[in-house]
Amino acid sequence: MNRNIACIGAGYIGGPTMAVIARKNPDRKVMVVDISKERIDAWNSDDLPIYEPGLEEVVKSCRGKNLFFSTDVAAAIRECDIIFVGVNTPTKTFGKGAGYASNLQFWEAAARTISQEANGDKIVVEKSTLPIRTADAMAAVLHTHPEHTFTVLSNPEFLAEGSAINDLLDPDRVLIGGPTDTRGQEAVQALVDVYAAWVPRERIITTNVWSSEMSKLAANAMLAQRISSVNAFSALCEETGANIEEVTAVLGMDHRIGKYFLKAGPGFGGSCFKKDVLNLVYLCRTYGLDEAADYWESVVTMNDVQQRRIVERMVKSLFNTLAGKRIALFGFAFKANTGDTRETPALTVAHLLNEEHAEIVVTDPKALRNAAKDLAGLERVTLEPDPYKAAEGCDAIVIMTEWACYRDLDWARLYASMRKPALLFDTRNILDGKAMKALGFNVLAVGKTL
Ligand code: NAD
Ligand code: UGA
Repeated sequence: MNRNIACIGAGYIGGPTMAVIARKNPDRKVMVVDISKERIDAWNSDDLPIYEPGLEEVVKSCRGKNLFFSTDVAAAIRECDIIFVGVNTPTKTFGKGAGYASNLQFWEAAARTISQEANGDKIVVEKSTLPIRTADAMAAVLHTHPEHTFTVLSNPEFLAEGSAINDLLDPDRVLIGGPTDTRGQEAVQALVDVYAAWVPRERIITTNVWSSEMSKLAANAMLAQRISSVNAFSALCEETGANIEEVTAVLGMDHRIGKYFLKAGPGFGGSCFKKDVLNLVYLCRTYGLDEAADYWESVVTMNDVQQRRIVERMVKSLFNTLAGKRIALFGFAFKANTGDTRETPALTVAHLLNEEHAEIVVTDPKALRNAAKDLAGLERVTLEPDPYKAAEGCDAIVIMTEWACYRDLDWARLYASMRKPALLFDTRNILDGKAMKALGFNVLAVGKTL
């Protein structure tokens, strides 16, 4: 029997993941539901709520056939046997664990709705990233229902924004954690069947629930740690004349280290690395593992320092004052190929520049809608879709996001339109610094001296 699939939460994870599941399982009905009418309306429109290369094509090919977006959460729970929960789990901002622990209120609300609306036995799949042992709590909430049986699986998502569709179509691995009893293993098999429609079986890993929950936090912590390690080296390179790109090329050739995820820059952004590492810190402290907590917390500290260093270096190179100077931020998204600005380094840099009383012009090909919300209330900020107009009369251009289109700009034209001396700070190291210097720019980069 092909079981129908629901997903509670139509965000960056729920939308793309379910679109690909629907595309690869044309015989199953896939219902994506959310309490946000605005989001659901956008999923049902031509202007999808998130930008992701390839997403529109997948959604349009399945929407209305076997992929449905709706606010009717109860109907989806009743019609489907496999229910993914992909709601947001941000860092708590209040009460016990504030600033570290995950806020599980949206997750618990979803679990309670499943329990209330269920009309039969259900497989409930944790898709959100959650603290280890959340499945226990999930089961406790669900089992308040007197009649039906719920089997809770963990199936964390490893996709990265900007490459979500490719990551989903060709994942390194799919991880499914489940209870070891017979019912649990039947549920695991039901979920394996969903992914086996396109993922080679050897890439579908099954573990116990706690290993699965833990592996997701551990993977993000390891990835974030690589970036903080590289950024820590970048600071030392700037002091000593070493070049971070030469250093990481050497590191990457050691296959035990590997060549990916070694790019120095403005530090990691996005909705997950900081939140998940802080959650790990909180878990370690909860279990009395203070040294482990301190170790992981330093990954976040290093990231904050990297963004502060960018502004400190700008102040220094612009004669120790930014007051009244015009600074253009090229890119506001936390990385290229997404419009997502959650935890973007550009926002931190904008705030720090604002403290220095600089005038800020922000440009980005996909993120200006989100930037407008993030920057509302900040003085001396304008948004400008055209990078050439953004640069006019500026004292500095700061490349914050590695958009490919920024490489192809007419940099001589940009230089000509700026106030002199003109600073170019390439925090992503995407431009040929020497060529930029030859045009007349004062050039700053991360982890190398030009
Ligand atoms: P998001 O904020 O984009 O989406 C979450 C959605 O859940 C929102 O649209 C919200 O309205 C909805 N929601 C909240 N409570 C609800 C409820 N009770 N009923 C119905 N809908 C509800 O978040 P996201 O980026 O998709 O992340 C979701 C989870 O996935 C997080 O735990 C995150 O850590 C994890 N994750 C995200 C990514 C990513 O790339 N964004 C990758 C891997 C894992
Ligand atoms: C990250 C992980 O890569 C995914 O595997 C995971 O599923 C996801 O978090 C999650 O749990 O949400 P994402 O945050 O979308 O994905 O994007 P990444 O490509 O990991 O980039 C994160 C940040 O690190 C970006 O700001 C990026 O610019 C920065 N980064 C990345 C670097 O500074 N250097 C690098 O070498 C790589």
